[in-house]
Amino acid sequence: MTEPLSATHLENEFPLDAGLAYLNHAAVAPWPRRASDAVVRFSMENSRIGASHYPQWLSVEDRLRQNLAQLINAPSEQDIALCKNTSEALSMVAAGLEWNPGDEVVITNQEFPSNRIVWESLADQGVTLRVADIDRQDVTPEGAIEDLLNDRTKLLSVSSVQYGTGLRLDASHLGALCESHGILFCLDAIQSAGAEPLDVQATGAHFAMADGHKWMLGPEGLAFFYVAPEWRDSLKLYEYGWHMVADRGNYDRRDWEPAPDARRFECGSPNLLAAHALEASTGLLLEVGLEQVRERIDQRIAHLASGLAGIPGVSPITPDDPERRLGIYTVHVADRDNRDLCQRLAEDNVICANRGGGIRFSPHFYTPAAALDQALETLGRQIRAG
Ligand SMILES: Cc1ncc(COP(=O)(O)O)c(C=O)c1O
Repeated sequence: MTEPLSATHLENEFPLDAGLAYLNHAAVAPWPRRASDAVVRFSMENSRIGASHYPQWLSVEDRLRQNLAQLINAPSEQDIALCKNTSEALSMVAAGLEWNPGDEVVITNQEFPSNRIVWESLADQGVTLRVADIDRQDVTPEGAIEDLLNDRTKLLSVSSVQYGTGLRLDASHLGALCESHGILFCLDAIQSAGAEPLDVQATGAHFAMADGHKWMLGPEGLAFFYVAPEWRDSLKLYEYGWHMVADRGNYDRRDWEPAPDARRFECGSPNLLAAHALEASTGLLLEVGLEQVRERIDQRIAHLASGLAGIPGVSPITPDDPERRLGIYTVHVADRDNRDLCQRLAEDNVICANRGGGIRFSPHFYTPAAALDQALETLGRQIRAG
């Protein structure tokens, strides 16, 4: 094992309280030590000397953009805009495209509300939302989506991994489908960015977005927004300010044009506090390597899956096939109030979530085996106790 992954190193990077089994990265992740250290340093600097070293802060932001570009294999960091969250980036796509009455958008029936509501908001422009039933047993999820594509479809928008069931869609397959039908492809990557290697170019995504607080191990409220370079000019802007212009910093100039790069989607002052944290945590993920991160997540999910299979009354909601899942494993406990069970697990120091009709576990690459065993033992005990 390479040095960054030794048990001591991981314990040092993730100083979680002893006895806490944190299996909730699909909701909000704990920060690695280097991210919280970066925030402490930034905060001390602010109180001592304010923004005297502002250019250095901007170089942290630049490095963050480079890290994010590398994480998703964007052609360049100039294709990465930093925005508030996934929902804001989805809204920029919905508000930025030209719509005609009769246009259709396709999503799936398992999407998180953000990736449904933005498209529903276009109803007053005559845009129809079509929802693919990816629970169908007679066809693959991609097949169910393909069934809804037609010559009125303008855009397909899906989450790479579904937040409730943990189902991982075949994004490359969907990208190829979109290309062959001449449809735009929007990928909500919040449940996979930071958990596996992503390649927006190979996937053929025109738009991709993810907030930093899940698998990228950063704070809430700072997301990347990728727009394929050839689509940047076509996306209408709806947020304006000093920061999104080409000649940024020249406050005396009266004429302006949008920045040629993705910064045109950033209207005002950046969230440099969050940038310091996310730069550190994405740096850690890149250091470990996303292939290795994915492999270790797979091992942890397999461990959970086999342990949960041995607990009477527990049945999986997440698919068995490792290619069809990533960091989420959701189960349903028969004849029990699953929400209440989840609450009781939390009271016993096992942090997970009630999603997708059951209990959702989501470990990350560093999660120790002891935390997984603690979750299995605690759930088994609570079920037996009735
Ligand atoms: C698939 C998916 N998309 C979007 C979101 C919302 O993200 P944000 O709060 O960054 O808008 C979530 C949050 O859980 C999610 O799971």
